[in-house]
Amino acid sequence: MTTESRRSRISGVGAYVPERVVRNDDLKEMMDTTDEWIRQRTGIEERRWVSFPGENNCDLAFKASTRALKAAGIDKTALGMIIYATLSPDHDFPGGGCFLQARLGLPGIAALDIRQQCSGFLYALSIADQYVKGGVYEHVLVVGSETHSPGLDKTSRGRDVSVLFGDGAGAVVVSATTVNDERKDPHVWGTYLHADGTGAHELWLPAPGVGNNRPHRLDASMLEEGLHYPKMNGKKVFTTAVRRMSETLAACLERHSLTTTEVDLYLFHQANLRINEAVAQQLSLPEDRVFNTIQRYGNTTAATIPLGMYDAIQEGKLKPGMTVAMAAFGSGFTWAASVLRY
Ligand code: ACO
Repeated sequence: MTTESRRSRISGVGAYVPERVVRNDDLKEMMDTTDEWIRQRTGIEERRWVSFPGENNCDLAFKASTRALKAAGIDKTALGMIIYATLSPDHDFPGGGCFLQARLGLPGIAALDIRQQCSGFLYALSIADQYVKGGVYEHVLVVGSETHSPGLDKTSRGRDVSVLFGDGAGAVVVSATTVNDERKDPHVWGTYLHADGTGAHELWLPAPGVGNNRPHRLDASMLEEGLHYPKMNGKKVFTTAVRRMSETLAACLERHSLTTTEVDLYLFHQANLRINEAVAQQLSLPEDRVFNTIQRYGNTTAATIPLGMYDAIQEGKLKPGMTVAMAAFGSGFTWAASVLRY
């Protein structure tokens, strides 16, 4: 029996990365590290960093969004809302969504920023899905954009974190669609979101911030201590990421009665190639269906999944009608999974 239902689908995908390529060997000039250490532990070979003057977070988001709108074949005025996921906004406030909305020339439409780090894209997709299938908006723009490089400690002190991150943006247009066959018609099948704030201090940015009874959000002593650079318990993040991504992805597939071989493409957050290999191994996923981009972009946090989607389309690995499963884990801790028919 078929019934007609309103659902959301991804109607357009865009991405943009800065032109400046920073190879592992280039980092050797700044800190005590080696190409071999970075490749072996993370799989990363190079990443992109923005150039100054000229490129900020909103610039990357704008370029990715323009491409997504073009791919969706809609005029920007059809958008009802922008959801902007980032942990590296140009300013603490207002959110990047407002800057992007002005840049796109869309005064009046809703602009929402979310701060779910590496799970940001899937959280944003989930929100867009609810607004679209609920009938509030016909089209929502979801953007993940990061400019990590200006905020990294590029000395040996910060080498465990700074070698991991790259700059880039990905965007999708989430549009209303009518579904007659839930198994076959393109749409977002489901999004599943989780968080555990007891892990908040395992991967975080202490400053600007007033934790530990500090009287100012930022002062010279905090800069001296390097509290304005990200802090990470790498081993804890690694093991928790493997566990949480595996369990949420397995639950998501089970919920939709999908076997691992019925999924055409797996798009995971790109924090470390070893994390994704471990997830694939634990769930016995077909290796050739797991699409990784970390080798060339590093970890672009909220941008990794839409950027991967864009590259997979360019490479002919993601085609209309395919079933795509996604999973992410990041600071918070937050984690999420989703499955959709593209
Ligand atoms: N170059 C060379 N040596 C380094 C570097 C570097 N860049 N960084 C650390 N080291 C050294 C350490 O100082 C240590 O030296 P020691 O043995 O003399 O003390 C040695 O390498 C091993 O360090 P470990 O931290 O034990 O290395 P590990 O095998 O855990 O790998 C890594 C570190 C790659 C960071 C790993 O823990 C990891 O990937 N964790 C997950 C990271 C992650 O997923 N982060 C992203 C989430 S991002 C988000 O949500 C915003």
